[in-house]
Amino acid sequence: MALINIKIEGIPYQVEEGLTILQAAKKCGYEIPSLCTFPGGECNQGSCRVCLVEATGARGLVASCVYPVAEGMEIRISSPAAVEARRESVELLLSNHNKNCQQCDKNGQCELLYVANLTGARDDAFAGVHSETHLDRLAPGLVRDTSKCILCGRCVARCQNAHGIGILGYENRGFNTYIAPAGDRSFAESPCIQCGQCVNVCPTGALMEHSEIDLVDEAMKAGKHVIVQVAPAVRAALGEEFGYPVGTPMTGKMIAALRRLGFERVYDVNFGADLTIMEEGTELLDRLQNGGVLPMITSCSPGWVNYAEYNYGEHLPHLSSCKSPHQMQGAIIKSYWAAQYGIEPEDIFVVSVMPCVAKKYEKEREQEKVNGIPDVDAVITTRELARMIRRSGILFKRLPDEEWDQDICGDYSGAGVIFGVTGGVMEAALRTVHYKLTGKEKEEIIFEEVRGHEGGIREASIDIGGTTVRVAMASGMRSAKVLLDEIKEGKSPYHFIEIMGCPGGCINGGGQPYVRSCFLPDEDDDIMETYKEKRANALYSEDERQVIRQSHNNPQIIELYEKFLGEPNSHKAHELLHTSYGERFPER
Ligand code: FES
Repeated sequence: MALINIKIEGIPYQVEEGLTILQAAKKCGYEIPSLCTFPGGECNQGSCRVCLVEATGARGLVASCVYPVAEGMEIRISSPAAVEARRESVELLLSNHNKNCQQCDKNGQCELLYVANLTGARDDAFAGVHSETHLDRLAPGLVRDTSKCILCGRCVARCQNAHGIGILGYENRGFNTYIAPAGDRSFAESPCIQCGQCVNVCPTGALMEHSEIDLVDEAMKAGKHVIVQVAPAVRAALGEEFGYPVGTPMTGKMIAALRRLGFERVYDVNFGADLTIMEEGTELLDRLQNGGVLPMITSCSPGWVNYAEYNYGEHLPHLSSCKSPHQMQGAIIKSYWAAQYGIEPEDIFVVSVMPCVAKKYEKEREQEKVNGIPDVDAVITTRELARMIRRSGILFKRLPDEEWDQDICGDYSGAGVIFGVTGGVMEAALRTVHYKLTGKEKEEIIFEEVRGHEGGIREASIDIGGTTVRVAMASGMRSAKVLLDEIKEGKSPYHFIEIMGCPGGCINGGGQPYVRSCFLPDEDDDIMETYKEKRANALYSEDERQVIRQSHNNPQIIELYEKFLGEPNSHKAHELLHTSYGERFPER
């Protein structure tokens, strides 16, 4: 990339040609406020006007997030006109904003408040009429409150870029403009997959996960046996909420915090992941050997399941009938575990801590319940867990490293850990399928061919004891669609496909800590990819540290089958651990 000469505040710099002024300034160490842009240029519509600067060659002030640098350009961030214009832009946004900040779950992480502070926008300079509020709380996963929306468009761009389904768009015009699923529907009544990617990019509290912290509080107050289980991707990101570098595994301190929050048992969902592999691996072998529907597709991502039910109803038989790991583990806790301790399932309250927003919806599906009893009673995201820890007064950094509870659901293999990254479910399944097909463990445990943290499609042909297994992995529905259309056209060459709803898998789930370039000192050219890679590495390194790395070697899983389930895909296993799907046609 060619370098060009510019000046910022009279100081000369060389920067890459083609950058916007905002990018160039950030690389040179300056901070220009911004709201409607997002790291990686995912959204760049120049609408909020909080990034205005002066630049030679331009007429008047320019939006630095869209205006490119040019040879010889002199940029003034500090000119009185630019400073005033940026402040007024923020004041205009605040004039139509619900400022009940103490009630907002984004409090402390709100970019609008950050930018107000940065620009000195303190007065209610443009007090007046507010536009009508549209509040949508019907969906289990998501809440939309337009009184906090600044119309930056980041959610619209993220939904389209990740999934190509464009659920969110602009309704009405001018002062009455607001963002909603097409036709002003609730998320619950639209083909939204409730992945929460829109929440991840919303700079304010306009889009949030539907918090279930109150449900947990009530269960504890009611004296229920409150058991918590934590998904692998949570430990890879929770530290970001407490100032740790991205990708620092937080397993020990997280367990210690959960105990201090009052949970009676603290389990890793990885036990459930091992159970999923036993069931799913057996299902795959059965389909391969007995002429079942192929390719088989994983079903542990509820966002993906939603997408399939909305858009590919005729291909639902391709989905594995296995429930996802936390649902399986919840079902075991309320059956086998409950019986061991003589506790009625109704007195147990299972909480899942998930990197995912769609899990809040998944736990409510009728098909997931056993005799009308839900496997899981509440789902809180990584962000909600961080909020619970903060409000409790726990000093997270001072916590000792503690171990998971070891009884019944305490053991897990490295295969369970890597579920959190795209390709992880595939690799975990292949480790067990290899053993089942050949009768011995694979010498080199890992399957490098299926690894990666990026979105898009990856594929591989794997020789297992003379049998070639063709596999593919996709994350984000834009990529999944390509593989599904191949199936539709009868051209799919694969035996097994892993699909994850969120690009990069659970490590980049809709419930993970926010990635905000405005809170970070340096401009990373592709900050999202950096985060995904570091979080994924935290999981791969935990897999390497495990003594047991294949699900079928987990001693507690072996015991569970011996004493309770019989064998994988048994009648009992189907009753508790498998589910069904149905085509859905929301009115559009
Ligand atoms: Fe530049 Fe919004 S106009 S960040």
